[in-house]
Amino acid sequence: MTMQNRLDEIRDGLLQKLKEATDKQHVEQLRTAILGRKGELTGILRTMGSLKPEERPAFGQKINQLRNELEQALDSAARTLEEKEKAARLKAETLDISIPGTRPELGAEHPLISTMNAIVDTFVSMGYSVAEGPEIELDHYNFELLNLPKDHPARDAQDTLYFSPNILLRTHTSPVQARTMLSQKPPIRIVCPGRTYRADEVDATHSPAFSQCEGLVIDEGVTMADLKGALASFATAMFGEDVKVRFRPSFFPFTEPSAEVDVTCSACKGKGCPKCKGTGWIEVLGAGMVNPKVLDMCGIDSKKYTGFAFGIGIERVAVLKYNIPDMRLLFENDARFLQQFGKGR
Ligand code: PHE
Repeated sequence: MTMQNRLDEIRDGLLQKLKEATDKQHVEQLRTAILGRKGELTGILRTMGSLKPEERPAFGQKINQLRNELEQALDSAARTLEEKEKAARLKAETLDISIPGTRPELGAEHPLISTMNAIVDTFVSMGYSVAEGPEIELDHYNFELLNLPKDHPARDAQDTLYFSPNILLRTHTSPVQARTMLSQKPPIRIVCPGRTYRADEVDATHSPAFSQCEGLVIDEGVTMADLKGALASFATAMFGEDVKVRFRPSFFPFTEPSAEVDVTCSACKGKGCPKCKGTGWIEVLGAGMVNPKVLDMCGIDSKKYTGFAFGIGIERVAVLKYNIPDMRLLFENDARFLQQFGKGR
């Protein structure tokens, strides 16, 4: 057989097989069989070495021409088959775009968490940073360093849940004050949000697990006027311009002087209703000037520095902010209640 005949045979054979090919994979197999490293045409090209030098250019040109022609035929067959396969797939995968979709259930932030975040944001915008501490606390930080020595009568008011005589569930976020003073130098300006625990019976305004947000500011020349200013800004940010704030003298062993701070009841706007027990006011936090004894125990020079602290009851604020009639709703996790706080419904 002459070389030309052999080449014609390869070409005709391939074109015939391409006509019969039914999928792209088959086309690729044919490509390898002829043009691949061990393919027929490649094999012929390798015999070029045995030709006379003057015969080689013509031979090479011929093989290359054929190679290009076959490559084009293979490519076009592959493309045609690909389009056919795609058309068949689209036909098989019909999609009914008129069927209504299934709406995903959107979750919502729990009102207690939104309230906590709103409180923290308010103070962060005033330049406070956030500090945290453990919920299982040592007596030392929860009581001792806060000027509540053993047998102090004020300990009764805290109804503590103990693990052992020295380990307890923190009764307030104030131990984070003590921990911060021991580890940082003034100026200090922090808020500490978190869970707190007391052995209280559950009712419309009490729960054994609740949350507070502590605040602590210590610097030279900090006064009670600064405390009032900070809390007034907090109250308007939380409840609007109309809210009124009132300080009542109180007692905490870790602050002196101390105050209980009330805001006007959101349900009756201060007129008096069952929610505020007819007083028009709701207590939301305790506060005061940090007792110099506490500063000294925590390694801060009370002759140079003064400070204020406050502890906000988050549930109380949430109940006021969202006008929730009973604090228990915040803990029961009834979906009908929580769904009202969902967004995008
Ligand atoms: N720790 C107090 C409480 O839980 C609140 C408080 C904090 C009072 C800081 C004064 C200063 O009742």
